[in-house]
Amino acid sequence: MGLLTSIENPGYVRRIVSGLLGKSAPCFLAISTAMPAVAFAQSIDPHKLYEQRCGDCHAPHAGTFVRKNLVMSNGNLIGRETGREVRAFLDADHGRLTPAEVATIMVHFISIQQSGGLFQKKCRICHDRAVKLSRSELIIDDTRLMGRYSKRDIVLFLANHGRLKEDEVQGMVNVLKRHLRTRQEK
Ligand code: HEC
Ligand code: HEC
Repeated sequence: MGLLTSIENPGYVRRIVSGLLGKSAPCFLAISTAMPAVAFAQSIDPHKLYEQRCGDCHAPHAGTFVRKNLVMSNGNLIGRETGREVRAFLDADHGRLTPAEVATIMVHFISIQQSGGLFQKKCRICHDRAVKLSRSELIIDDTRLMGRYSKRDIVLFLANHGRLKEDEVQGMVNVLKRHLRTRQEK
């Protein structure tokens, strides 16, 4: 499982690999595991992961947890209470995630952090949570975000909907797209 973090964290994988097989092995393993690692990492649904494994003790949804409990400092995501780096905290087995799950949830948290609560502020008053809106109303056609039923091009639509500033539209579209891409196939 540790090998799945190879993309995000080559140092980590090097340590595991040299521990397992000695120092000459990294090249071979890096190549042979790269492809399945990508496929596997994408099949974890970060929403479910958070809700099932963290939500009993923390806020029920990741969005609330990130907004209330985490802050970004010097490019690192930090817990407000403990002052600890979230990545290190989870690597040290808090929440008992596999390395691939840690990687998935970190990408999720950082993306929530970077979307700056914009959806919460400008959209939530009329819509359900972003993840629900995406997964029930929207689709990705080729690479374009479209209304599932309306067939609207959402980039164009958001230019005049929801009072987004021009430079906020693409970020919002990316957030909505990511919710679709991380949906777990059933
Ligand atoms: C069994 C309960 C429990 C579960 C499950 C759990 N946590 Fe925690 N978590 C805690 C407690 C209690 C703290 C308080 C700090 C401590 O442990 O020192 C905490 C603290 C944290 C902190 C630091 C917050 C801060 O303000 O500094 C982070 C980040 C965190 N948890 C993330 C997670 C994630 C992500 C998951 C799911 C993978 C998770 N936790 C699962 C109980 C839990
Ligand atoms: C004042 C209420 C209101 C606010 C605020 C609002 N919406 Fe909407 N939104 C609606 C309504 C009502 C519809 C359905 C309108 C229609 O289909 O013509 C809609 C439709 C949409 C659709 C299109 C769905 C489709 O199938 O075509 C998207 C995407 C969307 N909203 C995103 C957002 C985003 C993102 C924000 C925040 C930046 C936002 N909305 C803010 C009320 C709102």
